[in-house]
Parts: sequence; C-alpha cells; structure tokens
Amino acid sequence: MKIVQTDPAAIREAAAILAQGGLVAFPTETVYGLGADARNDQAVANIFAAKNRPQLNPLIVHVRDLESAAAYAEFDDRARALAARYWPGPLTLVLPRRANGGLSLLVSAGLDSVALRVPAHPTAQALLSGFDGPIAAPSANASGAVSPTRAEHVAQSLGDKVDLIIDDGPCTIGLESTVVDLSGETICVLRHGAVTLEDLTREFGTVADATADTDGTVKSPGMLARHYATNRPLHLNARSAAPNEAYLAFGETGPTRAAATENLSPSGDLTEAAANLFAQLRALDQPQFTAIAVAPIPDHGLGRAINDRLRRAATPS
Ligand code: TXA
Ligand code: MG
Repeated sequence: MKIVQTDPAAIREAAAILAQGGLVAFPTETVYGLGADARNDQAVANIFAAKNRPQLNPLIVHVRDLESAAAYAEFDDRARALAARYWPGPLTLVLPRRANGGLSLLVSAGLDSVALRVPAHPTAQALLSGFDGPIAAPSANASGAVSPTRAEHVAQSLGDKVDLIIDDGPCTIGLESTVVDLSGETICVLRHGAVTLEDLTREFGTVADATADTDGTVKSPGMLARHYATNRPLHLNARSAAPNEAYLAFGETGPTRAAATENLSPSGDLTEAAANLFAQLRALDQPQFTAIAVAPIPDHGLGRAINDRLRRAATPS
C-alpha cells in the first residue's frame, strides 16, 4: 500500500494500476472509493475480497460524463433530466444495463440494471480522464466499518489490500451518494444522500422512498437491490448432476454426467470463482437444461458472499 498526494504523476500511476487490474482508492466529494476497472471481472472480484464483504452487492460505476454513461445504460427522458440537473455530483442513477456495453456482470451482481455516477471531485475526474474507462467503486472501507472521508481512514481500514491511495484531503460531503432507481414507472430513492427526497420531489413530482416501509420502518439498505434469480431451478451443494442438468463446478472435479459444465475455479480460488459466478450462471441458464446443479462452495472468505448470492438466486423474489 502506498499513499500519494494528488498530482498528475499520481493520476498516471493510478491509471496504470487500474489498467493492470489493480485497486486504487480515490477521493470523491461524498466518500473515498475503492476503484477497479469495471470491465474486468477479476479486478471487480478483488474489490469484494479486499472489503471482505459478506455479500456480492451491485457496485456503482463511475464515469466521466453523461456521454460515457450512455455507453453502459439506457437513458430515458427522466434519466437525462436528472443527469442534466445533478451530474457531476452526489447522485447515482440505477438504469437498464446495455447488454453489449462491456461492463463486468459482477458489477451488477448479475442484474439487468447498472448504477452509474459522475462524481464532481477534481481528482476523481482527473482519474476518470487519465484511465479513460469506467471505474467500479464502493466506499473504500472494510465491510462493516464506516465510510472513509480521509485517506488515512482508507489506510487504516484496508491496509495492504489496496495498491495505491490518492490523498486529496477530506471529502466535502462525507455521506454516500443518493441512489435513485429509474427502472420502474415511479422514481424511487434506494439510498438517501445529499440530493434529498425533497429536492427530487420538487423538480420531478412523485418520488417513492424505498428505504421506508409503509409503516415508516427503515429496511436494511443492503437488501434493497433486487437479486438475480435464474430461470432454471438451482440445486445447491450438489456433488453431481443428472444427465439433463447443467453443472456449475468448483475446484477439481472428475467427469460428470451433466449436459454441460462450467467450473467457477478449477484451482479452487474463491476470487476467481466470484469473478466467473454471474457469467457462468447465465451461460448455464438455458431452456434445454431442467436445472442447474451447483457444487459446494467453501463457506469462508469470499465463499460466504458467493453462497449468499447463490442462496438468493435459488429463491425466487
Ligand atoms: O458516494 C458513493 O456512492 C460512494 C462513492 C465511492 O461513489 N460509493 C458507494 O458505493 O457508496 P457502494 O457500492 O458502497 O454503494 C452502492 C449502492 C448500494 O446501496 C447498492 O445496493 C446500490 O448502490 N446499487 C448498485 N447497483 C444497483 C443496482 N443495479 N440496483 C439497485 N441498487 C444498486
Ligand atoms: Mg459502503
């Protein structure tokens, strides 16, 4: 781990690390983000490993401007109006993902939507320009710790799990961005932030608040994103598959009778398994198979996050 003050040389070094699949912590106006190339499955899997997250939640993809964002998601009139009003700034838009946009499926946790944000912070902007690509970045802290608003917080929380930290002093807002879901008819706030429900309502009329149940109690923020569910039933902890089933293997496997097999990681590497999870599940979720049998995944480290996603994928929402 290395901390550098922001300057053009630091930006060049950070961009090179991102291009090689490494992790760079950088400041935004909300909180420091833990960034990776959003097109690189393995790099995105490394974010989850570094944070020790118990869940593979979808991540925010940071882009330079609206034009770059439009390469990855479909913008309707509402999305364009919100982007025109609040970007660059502390607002994240959840939009339908373009299938051929090139983003890692892990970034969306297998969903057909993607969360996009154009940060206003000059160092974040410089990094996005220098890297010239989309940067996936959750807050740069270990899972369960508070979000970092100074480079020292990142160093304390993540240590050597991050390759480079760009220091540009404290974040001005200090609270994560407002997340707004535009995939339904009503604009829906998934996470509160500096762009408030009142701001949005004033300009855009009815806005739903998904963080509060009808009785006013707050739902768990991690549970707000819809989860990816396969169309075929999933049989978890399966040591073999029937001839009409597909098999999602892990580690060394002998020959199976399965109609098709993918292996999350032949060498038993959990980070590689996380990187492959959603692409391989989709590849096997085909009508010619009656079910997808999934091998047991060790329930430690990133394996816990993989098992959490598999259990949710196995249970229709
Ligand atoms: O201020 C911020 O937003 C910071 C800085 C670094 O940009 N980033 C951040 O990212 O807080 P993260 O990954 O910790 O939070 C992402 C939030 C989560 O609440 C997640 O559930 C939601 O956005 N989210 C991401 N993609 C989604 C999707 N496709 N559908 C629904 N919710 C999504
Ligand atoms: Mg966070």
